[in-house]
Amino acid sequence: MSEQAGSQRPHVGFIGLGRMGRPMVDNLLAAGFQVTVHNRTRERCEPFAARGARIADTPADVARDADVTITMVADGPAAEAVYVGPDGVLAGLGPGGLVLEMSTIGPELARSLAERAAERGAQLLDAPVSGSIPAARAAQLVVMVGGDAAAVERARPVLAALSREQHHMGPAGTGAAMKLAVNALIGVTNLALSEVLVAAERSGIARAQALDVLADSAIGSPYITYKREAFLDPDAVEVFFTVRLMKKDMRLAVDLGRSTDVPMLSVALADEALTLAAASGYGEDDVVRMADVLRARAEALEASR
Ligand SMILES: NC(=O)c1ccc[n+]([C@@H]2O[C@H](COP(=O)([O-])OP(=O)(O)OC[C@H]3O[C@@H](n4cnc5c(N)ncnc54)[C@H](OP(=O)(O)O)[C@@H]3O)[C@@H](O)[C@H]2O)c1
Repeated sequence: MSEQAGSQRPHVGFIGLGRMGRPMVDNLLAAGFQVTVHNRTRERCEPFAARGARIADTPADVARDADVTITMVADGPAAEAVYVGPDGVLAGLGPGGLVLEMSTIGPELARSLAERAAERGAQLLDAPVSGSIPAARAAQLVVMVGGDAAAVERARPVLAALSREQHHMGPAGTGAAMKLAVNALIGVTNLALSEVLVAAERSGIARAQALDVLADSAIGSPYITYKREAFLDPDAVEVFFTVRLMKKDMRLAVDLGRSTDVPMLSVALADEALTLAAASGYGEDDVVRMADVLRARAEALEASR
């Protein structure tokens, strides 16, 4: 671990150079942090090496090098893969180490990782984010953090280079739980928006006009505005958040409901609808494809009459 003396910026390690991780590392480099990166698929590290980042061979090497290690991987199994085992983050963590687990995973796994980090004298915060690729690019993410308050303060300069807000929610696992609450609502909204949009279109209303009126209505929300272009023409826009990852979040939110005795009725429906979308071949496409799934079913039903 490098020295974190005086006003010197901490050395940041970053694991997981997916859609979200890449712009986050861009922002850390732009903010002047010394950065070490690792990704399962090594080619994704190369562009960052050209800009001064060090490439580590294993997650353990990242944690050994860095004052603050960030992980931003797909899901729980991916987090297990980068944390556990002789090459995992935990193996490289020493006393005083700080880890920010920023992927969307369940609170139980987040708490378990925090306990395992504590056994090595280090601290781990669950620090998942709200905001998609544009927010990651603009360093405008909103972070929900669970864990020790002093560790949150220590993490703040690094988080501030990535986000516009850092909410300390409470002890370990509360950041993860809050993130699932946020995404559950987005998943349900995405399904409901898809349903009403296709119904409006099939009633003879232009898609663009329907989106404009929905955005302008009492239920108008940033999500409707932010996803307008993608719902308008899903072929013309970049994939921001995949059906596969949203489905993972709905499952985690249903589990959260079970562990808190709350029936997650609408979230379970959104989960089933995402299963349909994945089964229709949209697993790696953006979640706005939900409207295409409903459109195709409506057309098939009409044709069958
Ligand atoms: N996209 C969004 O809008 C958004 C917004 C907020 C939060 N999130 C959350 O942020 C996290 C990352 O999302 P993303 O969109 O960046 O996903 P992504 O583009 O699919 O990237 C996933 C990353 O995880 C790595 N990974 C997957 N399985 C792994 C394994 N078994 N072992 C090691 N590494 C593994 C991938 O490595 P490879 O390069 O080798 O495949 C890649 O670096 C997810 O938890 C997601 O739910 C996403």
